[in-house]
Amino acid sequence: PPMENLLNLDEIEEVATKQVTKKAWAYYWSASDDKFSKKFNNEAYRSILLRPRVFRDCERCDFSSTVLGHKLGMPIYVSPAAMARLGHPAGEAGIAEACRSFGAMQIISNNASMTPEQIVKDAAPDQVFGWQLYVQIERKKSAAMLARINKLKAIKFIVLTLDAPVPGKREDDERAGMAGAPAPGAVKEADRSKGTPDVSEASGGVGKTLFAGTDPTLTWRETLPWLAKHTDLPVVLKGLQTHEDAYLASLHAPQVKGIILSNHGGRALDTAPPAVHTLLEIRKYCPEVFDKVEVYVDGGIRRGTDIVKALCLGAKAVGIGRAALWGLGAGGVDGVRRVLQILSDESQACMRLLGVETVDALGPQYINTRMTEQQ
Ligand code: FNR
Repeated sequence: PPMENLLNLDEIEEVATKQVTKKAWAYYWSASDDKFSKKFNNEAYRSILLRPRVFRDCERCDFSSTVLGHKLGMPIYVSPAAMARLGHPAGEAGIAEACRSFGAMQIISNNASMTPEQIVKDAAPDQVFGWQLYVQIERKKSAAMLARINKLKAIKFIVLTLDAPVPGKREDDERAGMAGAPAPGAVKEADRSKGTPDVSEASGGVGKTLFAGTDPTLTWRETLPWLAKHTDLPVVLKGLQTHEDAYLASLHAPQVKGIILSNHGGRALDTAPPAVHTLLEIRKYCPEVFDKVEVYVDGGIRRGTDIVKALCLGAKAVGIGRAALWGLGAGGVDGVRRVLQILSDESQACMRLLGVETVDALGPQYINTRMTEQQ
């Protein structure tokens, strides 16, 4: 269908679900165990209410923003997600093309189905990328990847994912894997960004297959100094889920310049908290974290109001994982553009209805979190 006819993210997901292979669908859609965290991610935003102000001039709405000093057209970014070509041949380069139209940031997955060089090849001069790292047991492999990343000017920071030292138990993915049908979008040897096993043979599920080789021994003490030896790029830690860890991360500024509050889209530890809860914890117990590092959130974004609420609570930018993949699956580059357009339009409408003209002017005075905090 023409992408303009799809009015919200649910409709895009529905179309993508029908179009992608069963294996791609199972890998993208799946989450751990009983998928409670995935569900909480959506629901958390619904229990935060907005506090719109009236009699304010809201003719103008400026949705531009910055991340780590880089200008962005909007504070929405595409989260790192493996295997975009499983859903559509345009893959991660297609996501980059869509992001380019909006000045949106993209974080490239360690397990992308195209090389980082291919993905940033047509980057606009001011286009912003991060590159996400899963440190490999064979550290030499990760060091070699970092050496390649250091040469790519478009990549401005390294995202180190910490919430999945071992894979979550994603039963839908495992079940689809057992059918054994090779995925049409499976990466070819030459296109792989690292030596990941071929997912066309992913009999235990795509997720588990991709995780093989990931180092589960990472620690604050060992891994950040190791990373500093291999890159001068700023580091963003992904998958923080408590105020204690957010605080520890802030002690590692200036090497660590940002943190992503995330439960991995509910794909790692089931019943881990949605990012909004962690955001609320940080506000309560260690608000100084916001002065030391930039804070980003992801998980369960379905509407512009979700994004505006996260920004009100102190998030500097908000990530979308599955939504971008569903956009790709529904309509390739135009599908991802449609997802970004819908979220941008909805967010700006929300800001106007709140009586707020700029992203910086959003704050906790525009929301009521009492329902969430009672939980
Ligand atoms: C992910 N995510 C992820 N995270 C990461 O750091 N490295 C990765 O390679 C992947 N791969 C991946 C694949 C797929 C199919 C999904 C859905 C997710 C997690 C991702 O970055 C993000 O945290 C969540 O997707 C956010 O939740 P939503 O937006 O999907 O609800």
